[in-house]
Amino acid sequence: IPQLGFGTIQQFDKQIEDNVAFALNNGYELIDTANRYGNEVEVGKGLKLSGLKREDYFLETKLGPTLYENDQAIDDTLKRLGVDYVDVMILHHPVNNYIYAYKMLEKAYKEGKIKAIGLSNFRVEQIQEILDQCEIPPMIMQVECHPYYPAEHVYDFCKEHHIQLQSWYPLGHGNKELLENETIVSLAKKYNKNAGQIILRWIYQEGVISLPKSTNEERMKGNIDIFDFELNEEEMKAMQALDTNKPSHN
Ligand code: A2P
Repeated sequence: IPQLGFGTIQQFDKQIEDNVAFALNNGYELIDTANRYGNEVEVGKGLKLSGLKREDYFLETKLGPTLYENDQAIDDTLKRLGVDYVDVMILHHPVNNYIYAYKMLEKAYKEGKIKAIGLSNFRVEQIQEILDQCEIPPMIMQVECHPYYPAEHVYDFCKEHHIQLQSWYPLGHGNKELLENETIVSLAKKYNKNAGQIILRWIYQEGVISLPKSTNEERMKGNIDIFDFELNEEEMKAMQALDTNKPSHN
């Protein structure tokens, strides 16, 4: 799976169609959306607009909790996206009948409609509940993860169970204070990168896949340009020390 992807939250209509095509034509190989973002049709148009073949990119989406007992929901999602399969589908939140919904993911996985299944925003006890009841263990777990809230509550558990972590809000959703943090800004100067690139590089070196969102073409290109430098051990520790243990949502 690509180690960094393009996030599509709060982007709609022609803007997201163009941004998805731009992302795929400028180095991104993973596009992340969700039923609840309300933009899957336009994301699907962007995939086509890119001119790429289906096998040349990873597509990820999230099943919305109101659809957890809707047996048509996965087929409807594929239809909205205009594809025969998605590379990753995860449950968006640990609410409603998530056990039933996970079984729907397993069934679609066996049918080849989903290549990897997983969870988002689950706590350790809830992931364990899935592990206890499932046939196919979750492969992906998407959670809020950035220097101010580095997903400590699930990090070790997911590593131990070979569940690949992904980060939503990798840039703190554009949190100015985070992007102007002294430690991050000084590393940006040292490596001739911007603050966003330092954060995304740190997430990558932590072994987590980030899904930064941007509506700006220069920032979109910059956010994937993080593979030509490396933070040293001391710098990784300095980044880890920024943890405030405060999530942006409950
Ligand atoms: P913009 O769309 O104008 O680029 P997250 O991915 O954590 O949700 O953050 C997305 C927010 O961060 C958006 O408001 C986006 O604004 C902003 N953003 C994206 N890339 C960068 C960057 N490299 N530096 C600063 N802000 C960024």
